[in-house]
Amino acid sequence: MSYFALVPAAGSGARMGGALPKQYLPLAGGPMISHALSVLASHPRIDKVFVVLAEDDAHWTSYNWLPFAGRLKILRCGGATRAESVRNGLAAMADAVGDDDWIMVHDAARPCLTHTQIDALIAGVAEEDVGGILAMPVADTMKRGIGGAIVETVPRTGMWQAQTPQMFRHGVLSEALVTLSPDITDEASAVEAIGLQPRLIEADSSNLKVTYPFDMQIAEWILQSRAGPA
Ligand code: C5P
Repeated sequence: MSYFALVPAAGSGARMGGALPKQYLPLAGGPMISHALSVLASHPRIDKVFVVLAEDDAHWTSYNWLPFAGRLKILRCGGATRAESVRNGLAAMADAVGDDDWIMVHDAARPCLTHTQIDALIAGVAEEDVGGILAMPVADTMKRGIGGAIVETVPRTGMWQAQTPQMFRHGVLSEALVTLSPDITDEASAVEAIGLQPRLIEADSSNLKVTYPFDMQIAEWILQSRAGPA
């Protein structure tokens, strides 16, 4: 069984504001996407990292990717949604991978991923048929709000926040993404929709998704604090 990574990076990052797509924002000495790619491409179990870009992405080629030589495969087949980008990526990589090979789908916007987190995902999921995801038990009290007012307190017992990587066999994930409904916001929700139950592998909050400008400062701090002496 082989392991591959698939990084959807065809979004515009509208919630961050600004003209440069989120995955290319400067962070700790490189474009944001370079951090996750570096961790995935240097993991000893991962054979290759597939990166899904928007067809008209004009930014990728302005960076130096030589340090990743031979470890990345660029697929210019991004779709209108994240799920569509992943589905297109799975189809484009199909010649290179087997149905039972594991695919770790990871957001370009989660730059603080570590080898330890990948190892935990592999250890927790590799013996499973379906697959699983990194996630964190919800710590805060959860409120449902409408029009700025609380209409309900949602019991947090058993609630988890989904992260990436999300690891599924290529065949299962391709099947799950045949039909794209708006309810599909991650790979696990697509797999759940075909009646399967992915595993939850407990991670930690350092694997945050950069969504709003302040998240950049937290990610920068995490990455800088890990950087050892040169
Ligand atoms: O915008 P958001 O943070 O939810 O995006 C998560 C990931 O999905 C990012 O890496 C983004 O580039 C990617 N994406 C994509 N195609 C889209 C929208 C988002 O590959 N159409």
